[in-house]
Amino acid sequence: GGVFSTWANEELAAGDVIEVMNPQGAFTAKVRTTAMNDPQGIVNDQLEANPRARLVAFAAGSGITPVMAIATTTLASSPDATFELVYSNRSTVDVMFAEEIGDLKDRYPDRFTVHHILSRENRTSPLHTGRIDDEKLSLMLDRMLGAGDVEEWFLCGPFDLVQTARDELKDRGVPEERVRFELFTTGKPTTPAGQQGRDIEVRADEPTFDINFTLDGSSATVESPRSARETVLNAALRKRPDVPFACAGGVCGTCRAKLVSGSCDMDENFALEPDEVEAGYILTCQSRPTSDAVEVDFDA
Ligand code: FES
Repeated sequence: GGVFSTWANEELAAGDVIEVMNPQGAFTAKVRTTAMNDPQGIVNDQLEANPRARLVAFAAGSGITPVMAIATTTLASSPDATFELVYSNRSTVDVMFAEEIGDLKDRYPDRFTVHHILSRENRTSPLHTGRIDDEKLSLMLDRMLGAGDVEEWFLCGPFDLVQTARDELKDRGVPEERVRFELFTTGKPTTPAGQQGRDIEVRADEPTFDINFTLDGSSATVESPRSARETVLNAALRKRPDVPFACAGGVCGTCRAKLVSGSCDMDENFALEPDEVEAGYILTCQSRPTSDAVEVDFDA
């Protein structure tokens, strides 16, 4: 039922060509910046400083996808680092990458550990059975993992799981910068993802915000009626359909731009790091102008 998957299944045919964006986002291991996520090929020396770094990931369902890439890369490139994965699914048949996870266990028996948690199947240990709520998570941290000496935590899955884990780690004094996360959605059904692409008519006599944006080196200005309360992204899309966005819910960071002048209110932010916000970046899918004129740069 997804927008893209439905289109891909029903419309896409062999021989079709589609234009895609670069991979992007911040859900990568800081301990090992690879040439792939750093085009300059600069290798972070943090792992050299702590070659025995311990990394721990919580993934649920298809949230395993980026986590597999991070685990595989880190284990291959850092001979002494360890990776522990807590992977939650409904039942055994739902486990994605089962074979690849098995391969990692075979290849790195001392450095890779996986804990499968199944919500609708009974496993021998109660800790491995049922949904991961705050109580179970707390027990896992106490008995299975322990929150100390972890270089980086990776969380990827539905909002509730990620938020529960973030809160618990925070309560245990884990510094924010050691916790990396990626969400599927904000879990808020009220978030109007369909807001993007909203058609808005601008009447000549009504007060507007002026939104100026730069994308791929060219700039444009669009008028946004004050009464419409539209996002910067929505306004920009009315002018240029190639303005980048994906989730429209404040979780992926694809619509990120730098606020060059003016001011905005940003609703949700589950994608920008505190230093990016500090540096003036906004999620345009979540930001509405609060000053007469706003200038944003998608290239910055
Ligand atoms: S489009 Fe995903 S955060 Fe804006």
